[in-house]
Amino acid sequence: MKRFVIALAALTGSASAIPAFPGAEGMGAQATGGRGGTHYLVTNLNDSGAGSLRDAVSGSNRIVSFAVGGTINIDSRIVVASHVTILGQTAPGDGIATYGNGWSFSNANHAIVRYIRIRMGKGGDSGKDAITIADGDTMIFDHVSVTWGRDETFSINGAVNNVTIQNSIVGQGLETHSCGGLIQTDGGVSMFRNLYIDNKTRNPKVKGINEFTNNVVYNWGGGGGYIAGDSDGLSYANIVNNYFISGPSTSVTAFTRGNANFFGYVHDNYYDPNQNGVLDGTILGPSSSNYGGMVIVANRFDYPTVANLMTAPNALTYVLANVGCSKVRDATDKFLVARVQTWGKSGELISDETASPVSYNPSALNGGTKWVDTDGDGIPDSAELAMGTDPNVNDSMQDKNGNGYTNLEDWANSLVGGTSVVTTTTTTTLKTTTASTPPPSTTTITTTKTTTTTTTKVTTTAAPTGASQTLYGQCGGIGYTGASNCVSPATTCSSLNAYYFQCL
Ligand SMILES: *[C@@H]1O[C@H](CO)[C@@H](O)[C@H](O)[C@H]1NC(C)=O
Ligand SMILES: *[C@@H]1O[C@H](CO)[C@@H](O)[C@H](O)[C@H]1NC(C)=O
Ligand SMILES: *[C@@H]1O[C@H](CO)[C@@H](O)[C@H](O)[C@H]1NC(C)=O
Ligand SMILES: *[C@@H]1O[C@H](CO)[C@@H](O)[C@H](O)[C@H]1NC(C)=O
Repeated sequence: MKRFVIALAALTGSASAIPAFPGAEGMGAQATGGRGGTHYLVTNLNDSGAGSLRDAVSGSNRIVSFAVGGTINIDSRIVVASHVTILGQTAPGDGIATYGNGWSFSNANHAIVRYIRIRMGKGGDSGKDAITIADGDTMIFDHVSVTWGRDETFSINGAVNNVTIQNSIVGQGLETHSCGGLIQTDGGVSMFRNLYIDNKTRNPKVKGINEFTNNVVYNWGGGGGYIAGDSDGLSYANIVNNYFISGPSTSVTAFTRGNANFFGYVHDNYYDPNQNGVLDGTILGPSSSNYGGMVIVANRFDYPTVANLMTAPNALTYVLANVGCSKVRDATDKFLVARVQTWGKSGELISDETASPVSYNPSALNGGTKWVDTDGDGIPDSAELAMGTDPNVNDSMQDKNGNGYTNLEDWANSLVGGTSVVTTTTTTTLKTTTASTPPPSTTTITTTKTTTTTTTKVTTTAAPTGASQTLYGQCGGIGYTGASNCVSPATTCSSLNAYYFQCL
């Protein structure tokens, strides 16, 4: 007798993984940084030596926080070790910038990098990038502002896996190369809510696995905006709800140089090519010719995506309000955001950050006032009292509330708020059972449905403009499901600034 096998889905386990920080998303979200290791407090703005940032990031398994704010002038490149967390938002005053050269995160596995400015500039090493990643896995960059690379500005090229770049500015690659950067790896890069601005070319240039969602690209030059591969290598990208705005330097279309090796899922990207000083972009229809000749595919690639997918116009509003090292915006980030708001009228490619119109002054960053921290563990006494930790005991690497983050991370996370996402991941395995009687051939095999619930709290700093916006949930911790699968409530956010929803 013919045997029939029915697959039954059975719930066999559940695991809860904490993201790098509340609001960490995408392929790099599971970076662990220096959790479980030691704490290094940066106490001066020296280029090197005890208490310096360079020294802090040179050793593995460290969470780095700051007792000083201001600009750190760096002579040579900063090289980051593996398992390092950099909590730039802990710096007093206007926060931290490095100026004078670039950084390498090659093999900086599990890096968590938040709220810093990496300003390379004309004094940096010729032929080098402001940020380079040539090898390594599982890294996340959040609210970073990186400008003035001499080769590329933010470049990922090589055996690199699972990186997220979110809420960040990649701007003004210096002439003569003037590049946003390569994002080239088969190991996956997620790019969410970033601003690419004023680079002649590579805004970015993508090859391999890429998720490009809710970004803004402004005033790319003649070299290209989103360059779709231009290579023999195979690429698979989701390009969803981004806004492309031409500026004075722009002479080519938003997407160029795609070919039969580049497979793109595209959805409701906006394009404003007319440089008329009015934001009047429209949706770029999903044809291959509109996307530089790439192959348009019907279904989204199943990469982890954002908890709160915005329309491109709402993403533009959000990005301009929140992108970069935004706890305090420095003059450069303000300048760049204001450029976008001319909607095509202003912008330029630059070769010297110290000359007009940028006229960068590294000493303008306000260092602020050092707080009182009796035990020297990096958390101010006032915050320790509020958190219920002991201001007289070095306990910043402990986890008093048991939420998986150290006390130091809890404090740092509380300084910047933003999106908070709690994800419970349930795993399922398939159990095979032999049917006692053969089902009729027309019967569909019924499987036991396993429900994976993701509860998500989304907090926005301001309600998006416009009447309403449909929210999407991230179901099962991966993938994408339309709002129709979400229940209680089917939320719009015309006036609320915080809301919960569930997806089944
Ligand atoms: C506090 O303890 C951590 C390890 O838990 C250590 O790395 C750090 O250096 C200590 N800080 C001080 C000021 O001793
Ligand atoms: C930092 O640099 C200053 C000025 O060069 C120097 O006097 C000081 O000793 C340095 N601090 C440390 C900890 O090396
Ligand atoms: C990248 O992330 C995926 C999904 O979490 C995982 O399966 C894979 O092992 C990761 N790769 C590396 C090199 O960490
Ligand atoms: C970017 O490079 C171009 C060429 O250098 C340069 O003219 C421009 O000023 C830089 N910015 C842009 C967007 O090009």
